[in-house]
Amino acid sequence: LNRSSFPHDFLFGTASSAYQYEGAAHEGGKGPSIWDTFTHNHPDRIVGRSNGDVAIDSYHRYKEDVAMMKDIGFNAYRFSISWSRLLPRGNLKGGINQEGVIYYNNLINELISNGQTPFITLFHSDLPQALEDEYGGFLSPKIEQDFADYAEVCFREFGDRVKHWITLNEPLLYSTQGYGSGSSPPMRCSKSVANCNAGDSSTEPYVVTHHLILSHAAAVKVYRQKFQNTQKGQIGVTLNSAWLVPLSQSKEDREATSRGLAFMYDWFMEPLHSGTYPAVIVDKVKERLPRFSRSQSVMVKGSYDFVGLNYYTSTYAANIPCSRGKPNVFTDNCVRFTTLRNGVLIGPKAASDWLYIYPPGIQGLLEYTKEKFSNPIIYITENGVDEVDDGKRSLDDKPRIDYISHHLLYLQRAIMNGVRVKGYFAWSLLDNFEWNAGYTLRFGLVYVDYKNGLRRYRKRSALWFKLFLRK
Ligand code: GCO
Repeated sequence: LNRSSFPHDFLFGTASSAYQYEGAAHEGGKGPSIWDTFTHNHPDRIVGRSNGDVAIDSYHRYKEDVAMMKDIGFNAYRFSISWSRLLPRGNLKGGINQEGVIYYNNLINELISNGQTPFITLFHSDLPQALEDEYGGFLSPKIEQDFADYAEVCFREFGDRVKHWITLNEPLLYSTQGYGSGSSPPMRCSKSVANCNAGDSSTEPYVVTHHLILSHAAAVKVYRQKFQNTQKGQIGVTLNSAWLVPLSQSKEDREATSRGLAFMYDWFMEPLHSGTYPAVIVDKVKERLPRFSRSQSVMVKGSYDFVGLNYYTSTYAANIPCSRGKPNVFTDNCVRFTTLRNGVLIGPKAASDWLYIYPPGIQGLLEYTKEKFSNPIIYITENGVDEVDDGKRSLDDKPRIDYISHHLLYLQRAIMNGVRVKGYFAWSLLDNFEWNAGYTLRFGLVYVDYKNGLRRYRKRSALWFKLFLRK
């Protein structure tokens, strides 16, 4: 398998996010995000009690990062804009931070002059704290207008050079981790345990998801009405999902598998495709599920030019009786997930405890999307694997080379079967802040030495990519 196995205009790049890469968290006029607040107020929730104050300092070192992308041979870079760096108070009333505009213009210009097509994610978990304080962020319908206003600032400031926009990153994780388990900010969940804010995981993830979808569609509407005709760019969303394999071929397990995918993926993809929530979710969640009004349904349906997919892992799915306890977002699907079938793992476990390696899953998810959602344009906006920080400089990351090459093989099979995949972004170029895992899990093709000046060392996988991508 090599570069020429893919279409000549196929994009190969890497992905990142503002809070995980930039640092300068209190610099350059940036306002606080809920991740700044979370890591400082609850250091116990992050392995190593670390945070993104400095991260890997890409705010100051982006030129070095871009030079590495070019040298390895990539031709695209996906990054996110920190909403609160651009709008410190989250909305226009609080003003636009010109230092933020300058930073992102510098980054965009550096990318373009080094042959990297910029893909910008508008929202990658780091909600401005001011909007959380003012009206509860995505729990409130007020977020829709503020997100659309923020998106409009980005389209106007950067849309002359940026032609690929991603409104949201992984809304599934934002709603379930922020309002279901409470493991991410704003830390809401039903459990009345000390480390969760009083929330209701039977309804809030559905309300938050509803507002995420409406906010996405409102931003797309602004782009299409005010910018797309002149700027000629494309706009979409990035969704994540595991691929699911039935634990047995029983009818119950096969139905559980499609229910599991519906609750993870169709929850978002179905509204975007048809303007309504999946029937199976309506059936299970009933009156706890918000509904789209007619005008909202019209705005949401077809609100994408492409779909971004973040694929990492797969798991087995089996039927279980719907729980009789208080309903919540994690049990509504009446599905049991397991990585074991007859005592055999679905694939080797990586460092993260949720990441089991199953390359056919990328083909499964891609062909599922083609069949069920009318064969949209797709970008793999994240795919990657981690290793633990073993203290020494582990640069010989052969497992990462195997992971990436195997996933590219199954990706290529999906393309041969007619899936319209136009690009692949590895997560990630550099080791970075891995949310609740802090800096203890490394996803980079390039090693970052956190102990001395964040120096960068290429791993073996970076050299592999250089050879793979050479023309
Ligand atoms: C996301 C992901 C990334 C993670 C990566 C590895 O939000 O897109 O969570 O930010 O770092 O998926 O877990």
